[in-house]
Amino acid sequence: MPDRADRLRDALLAVDFTADGLLELLGAPAYAALARSETVPALRATRADGPLATLVRLFLLQRPVPRERARTVLPLDEALADGWVVEDGDAVRATVDVRPYGGPEGQDWFIVSDLGCAVGGAAGASGHGEGVVLGVGGASTTLAGITVRTPVASALDLGTGSGIQALHAAQHATRVTATDLNPRALEFARLTLALSGAPEADLRTGSLYEPVASETYDLIVSNPPFVISPLASGTGEPGTRLTYRDGGMGGDDLCRSLVQQAGERLNEGGFAQFLANWQHVEGEDWQERLRSWVPRGCDAWIVQREVQDVTQYAELWLRDAGDHRDDPERYAARYAAWLDEFEARRTRAIGFGWITLRKSGAQEPSVVVEEWPHPVEQPLGEAVRAHFARQDYLRTRDDAALLGDHFVLAPEVMQEQVGLPGAEDPEHVVLRQNRGMRRATKVDAVGAGFAGVCDGTLSAGRILDAIAQLMGEDPVMLRDRTPQAIRLLVEEGFLEPAQGA
Ligand SMILES: C[S@@+](CC[C@H](N)C(=O)[O-])C[C@H]1O[C@@H](n2cnc3c(N)ncnc32)[C@H](O)[C@@H]1O
Repeated sequence: MPDRADRLRDALLAVDFTADGLLELLGAPAYAALARSETVPALRATRADGPLATLVRLFLLQRPVPRERARTVLPLDEALADGWVVEDGDAVRATVDVRPYGGPEGQDWFIVSDLGCAVGGAAGASGHGEGVVLGVGGASTTLAGITVRTPVASALDLGTGSGIQALHAAQHATRVTATDLNPRALEFARLTLALSGAPEADLRTGSLYEPVASETYDLIVSNPPFVISPLASGTGEPGTRLTYRDGGMGGDDLCRSLVQQAGERLNEGGFAQFLANWQHVEGEDWQERLRSWVPRGCDAWIVQREVQDVTQYAELWLRDAGDHRDDPERYAARYAAWLDEFEARRTRAIGFGWITLRKSGAQEPSVVVEEWPHPVEQPLGEAVRAHFARQDYLRTRDDAALLGDHFVLAPEVMQEQVGLPGAEDPEHVVLRQNRGMRRATKVDAVGAGFAGVCDGTLSAGRILDAIAQLMGEDPVMLRDRTPQAIRLLVEEGFLEPAQGA
């Protein structure tokens, strides 16, 4: 089978069935429409026959293709024998969606998923009920982008689905284990890896950490079934649960368990990275609630990217399942069930975000829980790694040590002056990162001046002395009050300790 997957892969690549090839054939609007699950523009763009158009119609648009035409593009007998396609009169049909996916270094990969659900939710699914396996969605690429890509010995992709996270992990982990509650998903992950030319992963069926109960990893990633729904807790209509999103535990318990139990499954220095949803419960501080999930011995960085009220949230997932196309009364009843669930749980809103843990064994772990809803620049894996490295550095520095250290301004930090047009002095100065988290922070004249001269030459204390002299301030007072601001600039990545600090 590996050889046969290679032959199929070669056939796909031979006609440029790649992300770039698709863009060229379909044109940007139809290509973008396809990524929104809209197939009409792509159908029109593939009316003229050609080998690439044939594959697009077969694997992406769910159209039967004349058998003899398919034979000119694919090793057809093998594809039939291995079940990629089936006969349909004089034509063949695909049994799975095979979607070109460009890897971070320009690799030509393929993601295999159920027909009709390569993008978006189950709304376009053709059967398979609760076990439907989705392709690449926004959540998948978000997690792939934030994952720390340091070379490691072992990685675990929990809830692998189509296998996209395992495929990424296979590039920098010697051993990849991929698990899923849904045995169909593991079959899809196997096909994704084989067709993308990646090494085989250790595939295991089971819930949460059950299949890996006695093992530990250098990297754990999971885009779990994080949806907080009446279906997840089993209180919704029977038979409507979708395994890819409804975790089968009440509220946000699945995400909480995943995070809480990660500490025991991580090697020292290892990272665990999750996408998650969490409840904003009446009378509880959401940040405190999340802090309580962090396992002992782990540092954590939790970023809330979005908050939706319960109505927006219910609508999002009702649409995801295609319920809005159902009979209006049934739709209304389902909508009400979501609101009942939230009322019972005193949930007023739901947060979406990223949770990263790093096993440090620190006596006083660094736990940062923040809201950052602004645009960021993916991939952020390096920014995530650097966040924890800065926390390690800051942990070892009291104010005196900080003043003795040298710093450099991080690359692509710009200064903006904000104030009324024509005013002599700016009202305030903002430092802005033009990459990574794209943070912005207000600084005073001392902060701006300090950041401006940080090129690693002088120690922080020396710079402050010079600023004090320039501004006619008492240098002792300035040395006294500024370390906190420097600490913040380092913590948020505006300043970096110079090499050797
Ligand atoms: C949102 S999908 C993510 C798929 C893929 N990893 C990605 O990033 O696109 C969640 C996956 O978790 C699986 N899953 C659901 N409940 C699970 C559980 N209790 N334990 C492990 N996996 C589970 C689903 O079958 C599904 O494949």
